[in-house]
Amino acid sequence: MASLLRFDGRVVLVTGAGGGLGRAYALAFAERGALVVVNDLGGDFTGVGKGSFAADKVVEEIRKKGGKAVANYDSVEAGEKIVKTALDAFGRIDVVVNNAGILRDHSFARISDEDWDIIHRVHLRGSFQVTRAAWDHMKKQKYGRIIMTSSASGIYGNFGQANYTAAKLGLLGLSNTLAIEGNKYNIHCNTIAPTAGSRMTQTVLPEDIVEALKPDYVAPLVLWLCHESCEENGGLFEVGAGWIGKLRWERTLGATVRQKNQPMTPEAVKANWKKICDFHNASKPHTIQESTGGILEVLSKIDSGGGVSTNHTSHTASAATSGFAGAIGHKFPPFSSTYTELETIMYALGVGASIKNPKDLKFIYEGSSDFSCLPTFGVIIGQKSIMDGGLADIPGLSVNLAKVLHGEQYLELYKPLPRAVYSYSEKELICYNQFSVFVVGSGGFGGKRTSDKAKVAVAIPNRPPDAVLTDTTSLNQAALYRLSGDWNPLHVDPNFASLAGFNKPILHGLCTFGFSARHVLQQFADNDVSRFKAIKVRFAKPVYPGQTLQTEMWKEGNRIHFQTKVQETGDIVISNAYVDLTPTSDISAKTPSESGELQSTLVFAELSRRFKDIGHQIVKEVNAVFEWHITKGGNIATKWTIDLKNDSGKVYEGPAKGSADTTIILSDEDFMEVVLGKLDPQKAFFNGRLKARGNIMLSKKLQKIFKDYAKL
Ligand code: NAI
Repeated sequence: MASLLRFDGRVVLVTGAGGGLGRAYALAFAERGALVVVNDLGGDFTGVGKGSFAADKVVEEIRKKGGKAVANYDSVEAGEKIVKTALDAFGRIDVVVNNAGILRDHSFARISDEDWDIIHRVHLRGSFQVTRAAWDHMKKQKYGRIIMTSSASGIYGNFGQANYTAAKLGLLGLSNTLAIEGNKYNIHCNTIAPTAGSRMTQTVLPEDIVEALKPDYVAPLVLWLCHESCEENGGLFEVGAGWIGKLRWERTLGATVRQKNQPMTPEAVKANWKKICDFHNASKPHTIQESTGGILEVLSKIDSGGGVSTNHTSHTASAATSGFAGAIGHKFPPFSSTYTELETIMYALGVGASIKNPKDLKFIYEGSSDFSCLPTFGVIIGQKSIMDGGLADIPGLSVNLAKVLHGEQYLELYKPLPRAVYSYSEKELICYNQFSVFVVGSGGFGGKRTSDKAKVAVAIPNRPPDAVLTDTTSLNQAALYRLSGDWNPLHVDPNFASLAGFNKPILHGLCTFGFSARHVLQQFADNDVSRFKAIKVRFAKPVYPGQTLQTEMWKEGNRIHFQTKVQETGDIVISNAYVDLTPTSDISAKTPSESGELQSTLVFAELSRRFKDIGHQIVKEVNAVFEWHITKGGNIATKWTIDLKNDSGKVYEGPAKGSADTTIILSDEDFMEVVLGKLDPQKAFFNGRLKARGNIMLSKKLQKIFKDYAKL
């Protein structure tokens, strides 16, 4: 079961907590260990009168249940005093729930100045005063959680509530800005629009509904949003009766109704009205940068002679979307790509291969006997044409790098597929890449939204993962990864990242992709790159450098399904992904008879028999453990260990039980050639037919063993 969300040691201030929703919050926080300040002015629901009874009663209720609480009877307009109560009683302030409220409902024409002002003073100014008094304390302690209480009336409007709705939506504006200003101090501010039975709703809702809509059905959302583990910030939620929904803004693609050096006319607006109001393919801007970014693009587009006449019909909200015909089916010009070990090592480091994992050495040290290029380096070869300006050259697309999001990626090694970016080694086809990219704010291509050529992401199995590997990315991960060729400043420049709507630079999706692929390769293919066939991923959320990546894997035959999470937040960042491995017999599970068709098996069996008698003698001479990877058709078919170090020496099938001093990889055929003396192992090593790692010098001793003991 998930652990209880506790608030031990946290000081929570709830305004208007003498009844209704506020009381429910205060009781719920106290029950989970919080130290609670119960504020309530104690007047009636129109804001007339005051008294200590309401707050005292709730404090008493909390104390009776063993909780800790103090009362405060000030109006929220005196925010400083209320926060002082918290500091005096408990020494700090962690959570502020701005909840106090009153009503002065009248149809618009009958709202007096006083009715207008008092509603604004209690709701908007009161929330401002209390929050401002707490703000500096929260900033100093680098922690705070704030709730603003809006209302569905504010969001949608409601007859007879002009004063109230104006103030309530004002609270959302306040919250939106506090969310931005507080974020770097770990101060989160969210807004709720509750529906609950209380004395406030008694006048508008039938009695039985008032009874049924318990404040207790709202409180759990407030508690979650105020918990230290909740990352939500700047959200708006409608909540009631046990249901919770999140709201956001939506914007049509709109239409540009002006052309360079032409007057903009109301007729042009009228002519485009349908399009301006058409929510088909609407965007969902969630920052002012996203919003104004689009507007600035319109300016530059019009300035460069773009823009759309009044009777033109294409969508141009972001101005990046006219003249698409040329973009569809556009072919990148051919390009050539070369690389050396330097690039492959830099890539391996960029995706987290590390000295701390000895099995990674083959990817980061060119002197390793089995030095290999990570299979996912294939995307680096393919992306060259896109990164070197190719994307910007697509006709009809004006691409703002801040708007480019990587949607999905498919990579297949050694499999030719038509109509895509191909990479050749000399004349040989080596990999096929498929990049799916979103250019935020663009669109309006018309036609189908998908392509039959697109490789489809596949859902993960419905069971706990078979294996999970984690790796913490470093703060420099994106700075390191970009050296492999993705120079988008989004990944390194804080100003650029903020323009794109992120708090700080984000990690490249393909970097996370590289981490995950490494995990799969390590877990299910013993880092044998020759087994890596294809990979498909969907990028679901951004990752920030420094976060920990957790790859959850499921084995289904030769397909390894996986998804990748950020351990700190639980967010899925790569979803519906898989790696296809080339089939091989399961070495560890294999019985000797299964590998019986290998010629080497006979030799090892014979060695094993002979060592039984004379093993102790050779152990003294050799004192080393040799692990053999015998390949067939390019895949590892079996592993054998010749242990001439421990006890009286042993030969057995499978990897070394302790650690091997030398590992030798060669084909079954070459093994036989070596044993029969037809192939000089040293020459085989230099021309790549035999690979070895570990202490290679020891292999000299092996030659002697074969010579003396393996004669068939
Ligand atoms: P309520 O009337 O039961 O609770 C409001 C509390 O605030 C009262 O105990 C009152 O004494 C206190 N209060 C009023 N003025 C104050 C001031 N100047 N300083 C300190 N305390 C003061 O009402 P309810 O329903 O619990 O409302 C709580 C909040 O939720 C309000 O902000 C309200 O506008 C909002 N809301 C409630 C909805 C509902 O369905 N109950 C719907 C939408 C919003």
